[in-house]
Formats: sequence, C-alpha cells, structure tokens
Amino acid sequence: MRPDDIKAVLGDRWLRVESYIKDSLRSDIGLLQSLNEKILSHGGKQLRPLLSMLVAMACSGGKASEDSCRYAAAAELLHNATLLHDDVADNSDRRRGYPTIRSLMGPSVSVLVGDYWLVKAMGLILSADNHGDRVLHIFSKTLSDLAEGEMLQLQKADTGDTSEDDYIRIIYNKTASLFVAACLSAAISVGASPGMERAVTGFSTALGLAFQIRDDIFDYSLDQAIGKPVGVDVLEQKITLPLLGALREVPEPIAADMRKLVTEIHEKPHNKDVIMDFVKEHEGVAYAERKLSEYIEEAVAAVETLPDSPYREMLADVARYVGVRSR
Ligand code: IPE
Ligand code: IPE
Ligand code: MG
Ligand code: MG
Repeated sequence: MRPDDIKAVLGDRWLRVESYIKDSLRSDIGLLQSLNEKILSHGGKQLRPLLSMLVAMACSGGKASEDSCRYAAAAELLHNATLLHDDVADNSDRRRGYPTIRSLMGPSVSVLVGDYWLVKAMGLILSADNHGDRVLHIFSKTLSDLAEGEMLQLQKADTGDTSEDDYIRIIYNKTASLFVAACLSAAISVGASPGMERAVTGFSTALGLAFQIRDDIFDYSLDQAIGKPVGVDVLEQKITLPLLGALREVPEPIAADMRKLVTEIHEKPHNKDVIMDFVKEHEGVAYAERKLSEYIEEAVAAVETLPDSPYREMLADVARYVGVRSR
C-alpha cells in the first residue's frame, strides 16, 4: 500500500492532521507565511504522520482521538524543522525536487524557519487534551537525540573511525528517534496498554533504522530521481553502511587507508571516486541491503504482536514499502 492509499483510508482524520499542520503555521509576517506555504506546497511523503495515525488506529480498534491527529501533525512539523536545519548543516541545494530554503534565502532564514516549525510542533503537543506532559518529554528526548546524533556525526567526520555501532547510534539518533516519538505518542493518544507500547517502540525503532539505511543506500545509487543530491555523504566525510560493508571485506591496513581517504576528502575531492569504486568492488551496497531487510523483518515481527486489524496490516505494508521505496 502506497502513502496516498493510506491517506484515503484515513479519510477525515487525515484531513484533521493536515489542518493542524497548516493552521499552526499561520503567521501575519508575510515573508514567513509565504515560505511556510512554499514548503507545504511540496510536502514530501508525510510518512511519520501516516505511521502515527495508523498506530493510533491499530491500538484503538480504529478510534484515533483528536490528540492522535495533533501528535501526528507535530511529528511532521518537527521532521520539516530538522530538514530545514539539516540542509544548512549539509549545505544542500535541493529537497523534494525543489531548491532548498537555504539556497533561496540563505542559512539564517532556513534556521529561523526551522525553529518556527519546531516550536509550533511543541505548541500542538501542549494543546493536547490528555497525556501532553508525557508526550512532550518523548519529543524533547528526540530533539536532544537529534542534536547528539548530528554532533557525533561531525565528531566522527574528523577522525574517520566510525564503527558499525557508532553508525547505528547516529542513525538511531538522527532518524529512528523521531519515528519512535511519532509512533509512541500515537499509542499514548489512545491509551494503549504497556504491551502495545512495547510493540510500537520495537516497530518504530527498527523501521526508523531501516529508513535511514535506505536513504544512505540512495546516496550511493547516483540516481537523480529522488529529488535531493546523491553522492554527497562521503564528501561530508560521513561513513555510512555501504562503505562500512565494503570495509569489512578487506584487511585492516587497507581499511585504514580507505578511512584516511575519507578524512582527507576536502583537500582531495578525487578520493570520492576511489571510495565509490571501492564500495562497488566489495559490494558494500549489497551488505547494506541485507541489514536493511533484517530491520524490516524485525519491524514486521514487532507489529504482529498488536491485535489483528486492517491497520496492523497497513503498518506491516508500510514497513515493506520502506524496504523497497525509490524516493
Ligand atoms: C528525509 O526524510 C530525511 C531522512 C531521515 C533520511 P524523508 O525521506 O521522510 O523526507 P520527506 O519528508 O519525504 O521529503
Ligand atoms: C537525515 O540525514 C537528516 C535528518 C534526520 C535531519 P541526511 O542528511 O542523510 O538526510 P537527507 O539525505 O539530507 O534527507
Ligand atoms: Mg542531509
Ligand atoms: Mg541522506
């Protein structure tokens, strides 16, 4: 099932989520309002609020609450805030097939608009009827995870010694943590049992990791169709799973040489071609694909412990879609 089909199944509830997003961004500052509208006009896959709503439906026998819609909207606002900041951190020109706010308006504007979206996410959570305090804690933990993940990534960029454990921590912090906040807040919004909360946490953790691994594989795919630049991670000295997979295949001294090429890439841009060829030769992408499948299976297994319902099946379908998605 594709995202658009799920939106159709959610019907009015999905429209509530969209209005929460739109209404909370309304500003009488013309410049801010027009940038908000620009971002909303090509809004991305909206995967996090979709997952959030499906979790709320799956944990309540199809009775998502008003708070479910607020938390789903908050997850998408926060996600967009992190992208506005990330495009500054990554100096990126394209997002969702369009020029980034950073490239159009400069880094300060992108950061400010990101801050605005972030605070509006928090405002939505504060306006909840129930459980707002607990959910606020969950989302603020995600925000500190995000910052720590980005900082660890920067720290590792200089040393070139990213291990697979470091990589998993980085992608948990920068991506999976928000999947967990989106899904766990949804479970809380319908008063799910502790057992359901555990299932949802397991599901969203594995799915979030898989999602970022797929993104990191895209970066090695040299396919322009995904709407943002590819082949850029290694230029930012990021050692991701395809490269880690290739490094496993060679003796330590050769691996150390390759890591050195990554740390020196700013002075020697040609190193990129050497690293790309190395990943190809040692089938690093295939290694990353295997790990990706393992996480997808883990996510599907976790969700299977929820009560049987069409929404549970849709969650499993979304997990399988993340495994094969092409953008
Ligand atoms: C991009 O997320 C950032 C990552 C965590 C890899 P998405 O691929 O969900 O972005 P949009 O919202 O659909 O553009
Ligand atoms: C994910 O990392 C970004 C965030 C979670 C903020 P990337 O830097 O790989 O994301 P893209 O590729 O720019 O979307
Ligand atoms: Mg980026
Ligand atoms: Mg990326």
